[in-house]
Amino acid sequence: MKMRLRHVAVFSILLAASARAQDANIPHLEKRGTATQLVVDGKPYLILGAEIHNSSSSSLDYMKPIWPRLAEIPLNTVLTPVSWELIEPTEGQYDFTLVDGLIQQARQNNLRIVFLWLASWKNGMSSYAPLWVKRDTRRFPRVIERDNEVEILSTLGKATMEADAKAFAALMHHIREIDGQSHTVLMLQVENEVGVLGDTRDHSAAADKAFASAVPHELTTYLQAHRESLFPELRELWDANGAKTSGTWTDVFGNSPRADEVFMAWNYGRYVNHVAAAGKAEYPLPMYVNTWLAHQDATPGDYPSGGPQPRVIDAWKAVGSAIDIYSPDIYQSNFEDWCKWYNRAGNPLFIPEAAGGAAGEQNVFYAVGQHDAIGFSPFAIDSAKDPKNDLGKSYEALIQLAPEILQHQGKGETAGFLLERQKPSTSFVMNRYLVTVSLDEIFGSGAEKGFGLIIATGPNEFLGAGSGFRVQFTPRSPGLPHAGVGYVEEGKFENGRWLPGRRLNGDENDQGHYWRFAPQQISIEKAGVYRFE
Ligand code: DGJ
Repeated sequence: MKMRLRHVAVFSILLAASARAQDANIPHLEKRGTATQLVVDGKPYLILGAEIHNSSSSSLDYMKPIWPRLAEIPLNTVLTPVSWELIEPTEGQYDFTLVDGLIQQARQNNLRIVFLWLASWKNGMSSYAPLWVKRDTRRFPRVIERDNEVEILSTLGKATMEADAKAFAALMHHIREIDGQSHTVLMLQVENEVGVLGDTRDHSAAADKAFASAVPHELTTYLQAHRESLFPELRELWDANGAKTSGTWTDVFGNSPRADEVFMAWNYGRYVNHVAAAGKAEYPLPMYVNTWLAHQDATPGDYPSGGPQPRVIDAWKAVGSAIDIYSPDIYQSNFEDWCKWYNRAGNPLFIPEAAGGAAGEQNVFYAVGQHDAIGFSPFAIDSAKDPKNDLGKSYEALIQLAPEILQHQGKGETAGFLLERQKPSTSFVMNRYLVTVSLDEIFGSGAEKGFGLIIATGPNEFLGAGSGFRVQFTPRSPGLPHAGVGYVEEGKFENGRWLPGRRLNGDENDQGHYWRFAPQQISIEKAGVYRFE
């Protein structure tokens, strides 16, 4: 008997140890230096992805020919919807046929997945809620705008929040069951571009009551504790109203669309955090929320009011911690600004939607090189005209460079840049050099665009990739006062090994003056710098 008990005990210890090992292996976020990286199967992973159209993944047959085309671009990860209406068409009865099929199709094509949970909200509206939710306005109340009920589920509907959370938990439970070992699914987007459209806030009776009540102390405590790192616009709004630490929403934030937006941010944050936490309790994959970005001077309600715009991310953070990343969907041309506004105060940069084509081809270098982005993903890839020729060229280079990029992120050893005629150069300090990057000029014919990234791989060694730029090194003390480009080698990485191609000299490095990356192509090059008296 004693013997049997001992066996049982040993067996349970082994089981617990294997569960712990499995947990440690689940895709997760890890801080390395100043960067936060996505770690998959024990190694940092760079998402070179794209998102498909909203309806594509509702049919496995429709998707079948798409996967190999995506793999060929080449992508490593596909962002694809999974909707509440399709997994729970009847309350309490789940159908995971699509989820299983998508995971299988991804595996067959050597691709990973980020699932987008389209549930209570998608682009502000509630079109992805199941019919049994849509039909029942009593149990699942709607937003009221100017005395009219609109087809947007109210964040104040407790039953809605619980129903969404329950379905999401069931989904995460299922993903763990079928993918807890293989890790085809890397992350989850919870809802899609949430916020009230058409008004600055919800005016339902429940929302009005909450708005007239005291601001929850979690928020006022957060404002005080994070005063120095608050997004400047939120801090200004709070200060302009006396930086109060208690009072109603109007007392603390004033009577304006901006105050309404903070109120909605708190309420969406509370709801979405609850859904995310329920999912994580089943399977703790990293989770993010994406944002329909406001144009400058737009009023909340022209864009979804309460979504995690930079100026209200703090309200989302104050309400819970189940959301790991606040993400921008960047279609606007000031790409660099949005990266800066999102990659701050500990928020890692992940761009789940962006313009593709030539813009995507260029912008990915900046996001990854300058902001340690976890990943980049243009929208509507399944109808892109010639993705192998723009995005694909960038991804081909970045897939080769990913191990180097990930090894050097978070240590001040990577930089990314976007150059054009209006902004022809930029500079930064790397190792003991001031590195100046400018639009490439050779024999007077200048490039119109320059983009790329540079990695410091050794004290005097650099690795770069991109197009249409040239680099000059100015030494910083201590050390000899002059610097020259000692050698430039073009090449590629195969299975992590550098295979050199041409040695670039003469016209190709402007007679030794610059490290050059020719326009009209994306090249990978190594350079060595020397110093002299
Ligand atoms: C942003 C949304 O998040 C996507 O699902 C899609 O609707 C695009 N807009 C369309 O441009």
